[in-house]
Amino acid sequence: MLLTGKKILIGISGSIAAYKSILLVRLLVKAGAQVKIVMSPAAKDFVSPLVLSTLSNNEVLADLSNKNSWANHVQLGRWADVMLIAPASCNTLSKMANGICDNLLMAVYLSATCPVAVAPAMDEDMWHHPATKRNLDLLESYNNRLIPVQNGELASGLFGDGRMAEPEYIFHFLIANYFRSSSLKNKKVIVTAGPTYELLDPVRFISNHSSGKMGYAIAEAFYLQGADVTLVTGPTNQIVNFSAIDVVNVMSSNEMFDAVTVRMDDIDIALMCAAVADYKPVAIADNKIKKKDTNWQLELEKTKDILQFIGDNKKPNQFIAGFALETNNEKENAILKLKNKKADCIILNSLNKDNSVFGADKNKITIIDSLEVAHNFESKSKREVANDIVSFIISKITDEKK
Ligand code: C5P
Repeated sequence: MLLTGKKILIGISGSIAAYKSILLVRLLVKAGAQVKIVMSPAAKDFVSPLVLSTLSNNEVLADLSNKNSWANHVQLGRWADVMLIAPASCNTLSKMANGICDNLLMAVYLSATCPVAVAPAMDEDMWHHPATKRNLDLLESYNNRLIPVQNGELASGLFGDGRMAEPEYIFHFLIANYFRSSSLKNKKVIVTAGPTYELLDPVRFISNHSSGKMGYAIAEAFYLQGADVTLVTGPTNQIVNFSAIDVVNVMSSNEMFDAVTVRMDDIDIALMCAAVADYKPVAIADNKIKKKDTNWQLELEKTKDILQFIGDNKKPNQFIAGFALETNNEKENAILKLKNKKADCIILNSLNKDNSVFGADKNKITIIDSLEVAHNFESKSKREVANDIVSFIISKITDEKK
């Protein structure tokens, strides 16, 4: 799991946004993290410590001491890999900036030796007050990382800046900033994903069922290994969870070809996962083609093969991988593809009754390496498959260096 063994300390202060911390704790625990929680006394009015202790599997602390014991704030700050204060109310933000230690949350913050991330939450006018701006600047000067607020409906009923970021956003912010591996640091990776649309006229196109799920998961898996990632994507409903991934939206195979080839000079790893249309209409009509009583013969021409082009023009240290979707003679066809397209490996997807690839959450792959050796993998979620592919490529690149 993504966060197995990672220790995250969450500080919750008194804000209506505290309800979001419940979902955040759930996301972090599900991803394998160990989560401990400290609340300010005011936070207990907004969210129940019982819910939080149940979800985090840890006692939730709110007081510096009770009649039997003293909460060891120093130990908590040293235990964590990262401390997140979410929500950080205007009051808590101000105390953090000025070093005021009047509750357990503040004592833990002030004694934390781990990195600290802060997700502010307040009404728009407080957010835009110069005092808040000054406090945020001070926090940044202490190397605390600020998680941007969002614009939207606020507790006051007004719309504006100051909403705490959503749990999913904070979850991915923490991963991007504190838990990326450095295996592919400084490596530039390009991934293609999704289908292409080949226009017939302004309203019609030829395409396929590709959802883009696999390519997006691969782009994120490369990013989590430390790479600088560009994702060139045809039209899909997928979202990219990490804003540092450079997303280039294209529609047609020609646009995808241009977007990839123009970037290839400084690319280290290219993985072509897109289901690029093989044929496109010879001409695109300027106006919607009218329905007639007769049949319609459509003339199609071959699209440019992006993988073929980058394979033919491969530079010495580039690693190029492609996909193959085969329904018969899978391995033989995949090996042919490997040779013809001069790829360093081909990831074979089989489209049969046990393994329907398009739109599915699971996938079963075989990777054929440059020596034509087949590496078989179990059926897994596309995220896990993406991790397998990226680990395989890392092992190949490392082998080549030896
Ligand atoms: O030749 P075929 O389309 O079966 O090869 C599939 C592989 O080639 C995939 O990696 C796909 O992304 C890539 N491809 C491409 N450009 C095309 C057609 C396929 O990059 N025009």
